[in-house]
Amino acid sequence: MSTHQSDHNAIYMPKAASRRDFLRSTAAVGAGVALSATHANAAGSGEIKVGLIGCGGRGSGAADQALSTVNSNFKLWAMGDAHQDRLESSFIGLTKKHKDHVDVGDRKFVGLDAYEKVIAECDLVILTTPPGFRPYHFEAAVNAGKHVFMEKPVATDAPGIRKVLEMGKIADQKGLKVVAGLQRRYQNCYREALKQVKENHIIGDIVSGQVYWNDGGVWVKDRLDGMTEMQYQMLNWYYFVWLCGDHIAEQHVHNLDVANWFIGSTPLVAQGMGGRQVRTGKQFGEIFDHHCIEFTYANGVRVNSQCRHPTASVVTREAA
Ligand SMILES: NC(=O)c1ccc[n+]([C@@H]2O[C@H](COP(=O)([O-])OP(=O)(O)OC[C@H]3O[C@@H](n4cnc5c(N)ncnc54)[C@H](O)[C@@H]3O)[C@@H](O)[C@H]2O)c1
Repeated sequence: MSTHQSDHNAIYMPKAASRRDFLRSTAAVGAGVALSATHANAAGSGEIKVGLIGCGGRGSGAADQALSTVNSNFKLWAMGDAHQDRLESSFIGLTKKHKDHVDVGDRKFVGLDAYEKVIAECDLVILTTPPGFRPYHFEAAVNAGKHVFMEKPVATDAPGIRKVLEMGKIADQKGLKVVAGLQRRYQNCYREALKQVKENHIIGDIVSGQVYWNDGGVWVKDRLDGMTEMQYQMLNWYYFVWLCGDHIAEQHVHNLDVANWFIGSTPLVAQGMGGRQVRTGKQFGEIFDHHCIEFTYANGVRVNSQCRHPTASVVTREAA
């Protein structure tokens, strides 16, 4: 899985080793998401039936990664998407690359209820729609006793987050495997850095930090003739808060997660500002193009965070 080149974290190191020493001592190796699926096959046959819900760029990538694992016992068994064309192009690509690990047959489901049908058919589901739907898909998967890989962010608002936390506890009680796509947690360079900080105490205590996601921008998709407002927002989902959660949740979540991970807790207070200065056109929906936030943790640690998107780098026209 790719990481964004322009992102950057810096945990301030007040004591001991120089930054250069510290960087030299960490392994600069990236790693993809580990899809934890041990004991995922309910029937004990050794084969794990995988369902893909949201067959866009990341969903197709996550399915590809699952089917590419060494000695893979994953079988892509069912697919669901709101749009037929997205499902079909993903199916064609995955079949071409993993002929022996794709057995979808007629288990292709299209529409907003597709997730229920995929969940019913599989042992493990990959949840990769726009994140606004995630809490409800996760809830359905856990209630049905299915293992889950879900992309970040896991929700776009407080009720959604509360639902994911609640369902996470139920998943634990049921012994289900749940992995979220915060891939820094699986990257050797971050893991080694954490070890240096927490176990080898190479820099002393963390007293403050900076996290950034300063990037050019992402795609924006045009409204096509005859589209309903719902179809348009689902296509151009990045720009609508109910579907995306805004830039700070959708992308900067990776680096905010690193801060929480290294500090060992979540902040108690967030205060800051944001707005729309450059990306002001209607095609950019309602999200901000910059945020600057100061987070304060219970132990007094402060983290300054900034993210910005000054442009929309790619404008695409495509059918819904
Ligand atoms: N961890 C990472 O590095 C990383 C990278 C890229 C994307 N992502 C995450 O993956 C998710 C998907 O992003 P993407 O880039 O693949 O988007 P995308 O637009 O390419 O794909 C989303 C797919 O979901 C489908 N869809 C929308 N609503 C649906 C619904 N209710 N039911 C079924 N299908 C539905 C769309 O038709 C589309 O095919 C996002 O949460 C994004 O943040 C994570």
